[in-house]
Amino acid sequence: MGWRTMRIRWKRQRLKQIIMAEEKKLFKVTIDNITIEVEPGTSILQAARRIGGDVAPPAMCYYTRLKGSGGKCRTCLVEVAAGSTADPRPMPKLVASCRTNVMDGMVVKNITSERVIDARNGVVEFLLINHPLDCPICDQAGECSLQDLSYEHGKEGTRYEFKRRTFEKHDLGPYIQLHMTRCILCYRCVFVADQLTERREHGVLDRGDQSEIATFIQKSLDHDFIGNIIDVCPVGALTDKTFRFKNRVWFLKPVDAHRDCNHPKCKGNVTLWYRGEEVFRVTARKDQWGEVEDWICNECRFEKKKTSDWVIEGPTKVSRHSVISQGHYVGVSQPQEVLYEVLDGRKPRLLMDIHSVSEVNRPEIDLSKIEGPAHSTDFEPHEPRGTTGVEAGNPWDTDKLEK
Ligand code: SF4
Ligand code: FES
Repeated sequence: MGWRTMRIRWKRQRLKQIIMAEEKKLFKVTIDNITIEVEPGTSILQAARRIGGDVAPPAMCYYTRLKGSGGKCRTCLVEVAAGSTADPRPMPKLVASCRTNVMDGMVVKNITSERVIDARNGVVEFLLINHPLDCPICDQAGECSLQDLSYEHGKEGTRYEFKRRTFEKHDLGPYIQLHMTRCILCYRCVFVADQLTERREHGVLDRGDQSEIATFIQKSLDHDFIGNIIDVCPVGALTDKTFRFKNRVWFLKPVDAHRDCNHPKCKGNVTLWYRGEEVFRVTARKDQWGEVEDWICNECRFEKKKTSDWVIEGPTKVSRHSVISQGHYVGVSQPQEVLYEVLDGRKPRLLMDIHSVSEVNRPEIDLSKIEGPAHSTDFEPHEPRGTTGVEAGNPWDTDKLEK
């Protein structure tokens, strides 16, 4: 090989290296005074998530694995104090961090901006305008993004004086329960149905404040991956009918498990939610941002609720700030139960005998001998349940009562 050919080759290689270095050029972005380098095309939200903690804005509609998601709820608004090194002017309005990409030299303010906090408070107030105060009976309570958001940004009371929206009920089939009044129209469930199933049968119907999640002509959602819409719903609008009202999440113990699922698209990696020995529900595993790691099929989610169906891997890591991490104390010894001893082995039904003082009920009736809680029929003129009250010579005598 002549020196001329060698020189051409070397030049080509060098050019390739320069191009690759250019391609790999990272953008420097500063968020809440912390500077990191990210690849071009990264959104502000994703860059902030790399920093983590409170610097990451909340996201109610964006979902990393769902193409086209984001830009609906406005909870992720941030202030761009400097657009880029080339054009350091600030952006006049707050921007949705999930849909705005970083530029080299960009300066962003999230929790360090009063404007952002104020705007987020307003967004939360709007999201709650029509949202019912269902938390005490909602299955999502304890793992609801809106609940968390309202704790951080919500007001104590509402300024809304009008009637809240109500909707006609839609039956989505045997597995999924829709509570439209709780929906914040984030569109995540619509994207799941669009991108994970062959045919989408539900969507957002109507416009403005009449918009609602519904199926066209009352269809049930029965695709074998449709259960994933429950996991992506940030509020309790879509809940698992097989788990409904059965338990509160903070009483359950999440455990990672897997099985060889026959479905070609399902890896069978799940979280089992135990109370004692019983599996109350099965969900997909979620990452630290509450997003599903692997979609799971309906069979894994709704049909496999026995421990024998699964290979248990170990306890799920739960953030210590989550209410789900409460109550799972290790190595706590229970105090000794002394009530039985005090009561001579009787069950603790009646702790204080106020009969003789009140004279409301008949003192002859020994409440501790009645099976279950006493109620009015136990004081009617017949033999009370389980008492030895009607005995010869006992004042609890039907004849006497009739006089
Ligand atoms: S039902 Fe849930 S996931 Fe679907 S749009 Fe409403 S809030 Fe979003
Ligand atoms: S998460 Fe960005 S607008 Fe909803």
